[in-house]
Amino acid sequence: MKRILFLSVFLVCFSAYAQKFGQLAQTPPMGWNSWNKFGCDVNEQMIKEMADAMVSSGMKDAGYEYIVIDDCWQIGRDSLGNIIADPERFPSGMKALADYVHSKGLKFGLYSDAGRYTCQARPGSRGYEYQDARTYASWGVDYLKYDWCNHGKQNSEASYKLMRDALYKAGRPIVFSICEWGSTKPWEWAGDIGHLWRTTYDIQDCWDCLNDWGGMGWTLILDKQEGLEEYAGPGKWNDPDMLEVGNGGMTIKEYKAHFALWCMLAAPLMAGNDLRDMSKGIRDILTAKEVITINQDPLGKQGYKYKDHGDLEIWLKPLSNEEMAVCLFNRGDDPQNIIMHWTWLIKNCENKYSIRLYDGNYILRDLWKGKDLGAASEINTIDIPARDVLLLRLKKDK
Ligand code: GLA
Repeated sequence: MKRILFLSVFLVCFSAYAQKFGQLAQTPPMGWNSWNKFGCDVNEQMIKEMADAMVSSGMKDAGYEYIVIDDCWQIGRDSLGNIIADPERFPSGMKALADYVHSKGLKFGLYSDAGRYTCQARPGSRGYEYQDARTYASWGVDYLKYDWCNHGKQNSEASYKLMRDALYKAGRPIVFSICEWGSTKPWEWAGDIGHLWRTTYDIQDCWDCLNDWGGMGWTLILDKQEGLEEYAGPGKWNDPDMLEVGNGGMTIKEYKAHFALWCMLAAPLMAGNDLRDMSKGIRDILTAKEVITINQDPLGKQGYKYKDHGDLEIWLKPLSNEEMAVCLFNRGDDPQNIIMHWTWLIKNCENKYSIRLYDGNYILRDLWKGKDLGAASEINTIDIPARDVLLLRLKKDK
């Protein structure tokens, strides 16, 4: 009898946590992560300044909420196996830092690894999953990025499930970000395990470069998202990696295109630049509210490539309220002028999700300019500068 009672209490608690966990990330998570700009050079003062800057720059108002410390915050384990944050770099400890981030109305995230060591050879969580999850919960962690270095012969699905169960058990709702680089097709198994999963190796701050170890520029990452759209939705997102916007390797137009396509992909929007030191051009990209609305649309459909005309691509993303985002992406080095038959597109586009558009009229709205261009039926030719996008919303004309 006692055992049955214990088992039912356990199941009720477990499913209550599962429910709390399942309600997170109903739209793609938005925040900032230290890795792309700072690598291992992380410390308490810088993280506090980044939280301050997220508020003062208008990023918080634009919807960004998580401040995530990536690799290198951890230095060892104590005699009881508890993970230790580097006391030189984080002298006040993680709980105090999480409290500070929370006091700004933001949320706090950390990084660990499913193997014995992280990618930078810091202690991983292998064998310490439940203990680490309890520690994170006690510090007030709201987001965990969980990497896949040094995993030996571990099975990916089982390893991530183990940490997910540990997080449930710890009882604090924590967004679980799977960082397994797409190597065992997490989109096929991670829907109930994590809220987002990386689909490729690491993004680089370039248009189309390719490193020998697999890191690549954002347009190459974009190409690898094709076909993954069916796996994404509220609470489960394909993650084409964090943003490089503002890190210096690309032009403003190239960053604008990068950001627009990440919004079309319903990708998590984790800024990866120094928020304390942004030019107006970069801030305007990262805080473009109407563009972000495409990303955060409650329908949660991932956009997909509808037409490929070589250097010119047309991407579609169905939105709630029978509206649709259209991104005309010029990948080439010359400006392009195209003729668009909007009426035909609206009536005939068999969008992947079989979501019908309505029979009335649509207005075309330029989302970067925040300006209505006129009735869709009347606009035919469109110019798109080299390596840039035109991001439009087909808005119902009421
Ligand atoms: C891997 C991940 C990166 C980053 C580093 C940290 O390469 O893919 O996003 O977390 O590890 O070492």
